[in-house]
Amino acid sequence: MFEDKLAAALARDGISEADALGALEVPKEAKLGDICLPCFKFSRALRQAPPVIAASLKDSVAALPFVEKAEVVGGYLNIFFDRRTVAEGISQAAQSKDVGKSDEGNGKTICIDFSSVNIAKPFHIGHLSTTVIGGALYRIFAHLGYKVVGINHLGDWGTQFGKLIVATRKWSSLEEVAANDEYFLNTLYVRYHREAEEHPEMDDEARAWFKRIEDGDKEATAYFNVFKEVTMRAVSKVYDRLKIHFDSYAGESFYNDKMEPCLDILRKKGLLKQSDGAQIVDLEAYNMPPCLLVKADGATLYATRDIAAAYYRKQTYDFYKCLYVVAYQQDLHFKQLFQVLKLMDFAGAQDMEHIAFGMVSMEDGAMSTRNGRVIWLKEVLDKAVEKARGIIEEKNPNIQNKTAIAESVGVGAVVFSALWNNRIKDIVFSYDKVLNFDGETAPYVQYTHARCASALRKGGTFDISNADLDAITDDDGYDVIKSVLGFGDSVRTAAKLREPCIVTRHIVDLAGKFNKFYIGHRIVVDDERVKNARLMLTAAVKNTISCGLSLLGIDAPDEM
Ligand code: ARG
Repeated sequence: MFEDKLAAALARDGISEADALGALEVPKEAKLGDICLPCFKFSRALRQAPPVIAASLKDSVAALPFVEKAEVVGGYLNIFFDRRTVAEGISQAAQSKDVGKSDEGNGKTICIDFSSVNIAKPFHIGHLSTTVIGGALYRIFAHLGYKVVGINHLGDWGTQFGKLIVATRKWSSLEEVAANDEYFLNTLYVRYHREAEEHPEMDDEARAWFKRIEDGDKEATAYFNVFKEVTMRAVSKVYDRLKIHFDSYAGESFYNDKMEPCLDILRKKGLLKQSDGAQIVDLEAYNMPPCLLVKADGATLYATRDIAAAYYRKQTYDFYKCLYVVAYQQDLHFKQLFQVLKLMDFAGAQDMEHIAFGMVSMEDGAMSTRNGRVIWLKEVLDKAVEKARGIIEEKNPNIQNKTAIAESVGVGAVVFSALWNNRIKDIVFSYDKVLNFDGETAPYVQYTHARCASALRKGGTFDISNADLDAITDDDGYDVIKSVLGFGDSVRTAAKLREPCIVTRHIVDLAGKFNKFYIGHRIVVDDERVKNARLMLTAAVKNTISCGLSLLGIDAPDEM
């Protein structure tokens, strides 16, 4: 806040405006001011002791209209803002939900590859993080004016299709699969794996069917399409509940005819080597195992498709950055991929980023797709919603729209749980923890939002131009004000670090500060000017929370 103006006032011989701007920092304790200037680093250039420098700068700072006072403490110049001037800054947040919106990303396109589910495999709890982190980054960048392209790089190629065809033909039919849901499909998959252990010849059959898909055989393709349809039908429903949108579903199969030109570039550059009949890029010089691109039987791989996808995206979207929100287990894959692209002199090679994240496990242990003990994401959402409904029923039995509110609270709680920590941390999921109304949870923030909404309903319309700002600038109110005004910075930092949790933490912190203010102050009081100020603060908090939640993909009901 006011950094630019402070830096301009501080600049002089030996201290450039940029120096001053870079040196300003927020003190550890509020009693040391809103902002401070450590003067140690100017000592050498000015040939003066830091306290002397601080003292010499004091008057020009104190003269600024938004500064209440400046104090020299040791080598620091501590600066206190005029709280009323600061408070005026929240009027915008009090009137619009677009808090912290900016256009700094205008003209730049960011591709975000996220969720990227595998067709004919379960959409399970392991996909929660990539889906909601990717969705949050999508909205955060869009909020900052970037053009964002959300890409679901579907895993729609691979031997699982051959296996499913064998299973379908043995135990079901194309019609039955088409008429059923993803669970039915999964049952076939699980049964296949169980039986193939005793009948390994099934795997040969499966390979042969997959080969037919690769060759464009009509019958095989019909199966392929049905598996894809059934899976997409199921995942789309989950995406709707999570408020996730994709601009492209170009998945692995999309690149079937786009790999050859890339392999050609590699050949021309002498990068493609033969190794036991396979074709690889040697990465020994980079301390990595070779990147396998074509198998001895001619089949291409995951990495081959990713190379083609990188070229396609650069050409189609001319991205400024291309992010891959994928679990840290694929670290090596992306290191290899990015290295190969660099060797190819690919134009976007410097702009590719692997946005890694940790694992989600359930309190009661891990899971595996093959033996069927899978925790479907849909079921986690359903169970959270059911539990949320129970809590609402207990807390507020007469409320309208229970079903919709329970959905918002339950789904929000699950989403929030994957956006609370730094991405890389592993998560142990617990229903009780994510649904705790008094914890660092979505329901806690949603509840605070509803509390604001209720105060605003009670207070009616209010006049910002006739507000007594002294009624909101005591220490508790001032903390709230600063948190509202700092929201935009948190959104920017979240974008810069690709860490949505910075937004999550900001709104939890804001909710805590507002609740402290709320407990100590009545909002709807008789004094018109006091009431106006407090309603303005409440509206600013409500809009900031609602904006933050919506960036995370979480609903903000007005009642709960
Ligand atoms: N479908 C892959 C998986 O589930 C993730 C794909 C990530 N995106 C990519 N371009 N490789 O492991």
